[in-house]
Amino acid sequence: MSESILPFLGRFHPLIVHLPIGFLSFWVVFEIFYRKSEKSGVRLLLASFTFLSSSTSVILGFFLSWQSGYDEHLLEDHRNSGILLAILSFLLLITIVMYNNGLFFRRLYYPLLIVSFAVLCYTGHHGGSLTHGSDFLVYKPELNPANEQTLKIADIKKAYVFEDLVLPILKKKCTSCHNNEKKKGGLQLDTYGSIMKGGENGQIIVPGNSAESYMAEVILMHKDEEMAMPPKGKQPLTQAEMQVIIWWIDQNAKENTKVEQLVADNKTLTAINSVAGNEIKTTSFWETTEAEPVNLLSVEFVKKSGFLVYPIAANSNLLEIRIQASATDTLSDNALIALQSVNEQLVWLDLSKSKITDDAGSIFAQFKHLNKLNVSNTEAGDKIAQSIASLPALQIVNFTGTPISIKGLVKLIANPSIQKIYVWKTTITEADISALQIRYPKLQIELGSDSTRSL
Ligand code: HEC
Repeated sequence: MSESILPFLGRFHPLIVHLPIGFLSFWVVFEIFYRKSEKSGVRLLLASFTFLSSSTSVILGFFLSWQSGYDEHLLEDHRNSGILLAILSFLLLITIVMYNNGLFFRRLYYPLLIVSFAVLCYTGHHGGSLTHGSDFLVYKPELNPANEQTLKIADIKKAYVFEDLVLPILKKKCTSCHNNEKKKGGLQLDTYGSIMKGGENGQIIVPGNSAESYMAEVILMHKDEEMAMPPKGKQPLTQAEMQVIIWWIDQNAKENTKVEQLVADNKTLTAINSVAGNEIKTTSFWETTEAEPVNLLSVEFVKKSGFLVYPIAANSNLLEIRIQASATDTLSDNALIALQSVNEQLVWLDLSKSKITDDAGSIFAQFKHLNKLNVSNTEAGDKIAQSIASLPALQIVNFTGTPISIKGLVKLIANPSIQKIYVWKTTITEADISALQIRYPKLQIELGSDSTRSL
C-alpha cells in the first residue's frame, strides 16, 4: 500500500464506526429481551463482529488522525477510548468463547458488556464533537436570524473594523471549519491572534498588502479552484464581504481601529454599510440639487402674493413656500404666477386649504425641482395631477380632500420619482388602490392620513 492511500482509507472511518455502534447496541438489546436464551451462536456472532468492526475502526481512525486540523485534546480522548473499546470487545469475545468453561467468565460477561457499551457511547460522543464541534449537541435556540444578520451598527464610522465587520463575516462563512476544535489547513479563524498566526503554510496575512496575503488570494479565487475559500458548496462570500476583508488587510489588519481612523473611499464605505446591514443612505435630491441664489425682488413679489418663504436649510438656495395664514381664504390661481419667478429654487410647496383650482394645472409643470407638494383640501384635481406627472424630483404629493379621480392618480403615479401619495377623502377607493399596488408595489398610496400631519 502506498503511503498516500492510507489517509484516503482514513476517510472511511466515519462510515465504519457505525458498525460497532450497531452491533454492540443490538447486542445490548438482545440481552435485555433474550437474557435467558441459550443461543450462544448469536452471541458469538455479535462478539466477533463487534470486535472486528471496532478494531478496524481504530486502525482507520489512526489514518484519519494524521490529517491535521483536529483539536488535540478531543482527539487524544477519542483515540484512547476507541482503543479501550477494541480491547473490551476482544475480552467480550473471549468471555463468550470461554462462557461454559467456568463461573469466572459467566460472572464477567454482563459487567463487561455494560462497560463496553458505556465506552462506546463516550467514544461516539467525542467522535461527533471532533467532526461537528463540541457544542453540536448543545441546544442553542437560534436568535432571530434576520436580526442577527442585519445587526445594525448605528454609526458606521465608530464601528471597530475587525470586531464589528471582519470577524462577523468569518464567523458566518469560515469558522465552521476553522475553529479551536476543527482547524482545517491548521488554521483557526475565530480570534485575532489565531488569524494572524496563520495556518499550516504559515501566515495568511501580510498587513498592508492584500496582494501578498494568502487569505485574500483564497477568498478571491474562482469557486472551482481547489483552494477557493469557503470551499465549493458552502455559502460564498458576497462581493461586499470580500471588499471589506481586503480593505482591512490593506489598512494594516489592525485589531482595534475604527472605521473613521482609516481611509475608505466611497466604494468601500458602501461595502462596509452593506456588511453592517445598514441601508445605504441615499442622498436626498436637494443635497445634490444646485440652484442660483434667489433674486430678492422675486422673494418680495412672492411674499406680497400671500406666501411665506423659507430656505429649506441654512446656506441653502432652495425654498419652502407656504401660504400666509391671512391669505388662505383668498389665495387663488393668480397668486401662483408669482411662484414662476422662483421656479428654480422651489422644492417644497404647501397650498393646502387655498382657493386654487385645477385650472392652475400647467403652472406646476414649471417647478422642475419640486419635491413635495401639498394641495390637500383644495379644488386641485386631475389636471394638476397630470402636469406634475413629469416633474423629476417630485416624491411626496398630498391630494387629500380634492376632486382628484382615479384617472388623475393613474397619470400621476406614472411619474417614477414619486414615492408617496395621499388620497384620503377623495373618490378613490381601497379597491382602486389595491389594483394599482400590484403594478406599483413600492409606491405608498395612503388612504387614511391627516393632511395636516402628512407634510
Ligand atoms: C467547509 C469547510 C471550510 C470552510 C467553510 C472554510 N474553509 Fe478554509 N480550509 C478548509 C480546508 C479543508 C483547508 C485545507 C485545504 C488544503 O490545505 O488543501 C482550508 C484551508 C484554508 C486556508 C489555508 C491555510 C494554510 O495555511 O494552508 C485559508 C487561508 C483558509 N482556509 C481560509 C478560509 C476562509 C477565509 C474561509 C471563509 C471565507 C474559509 N477558509 C472557510 C476548509 C474550509
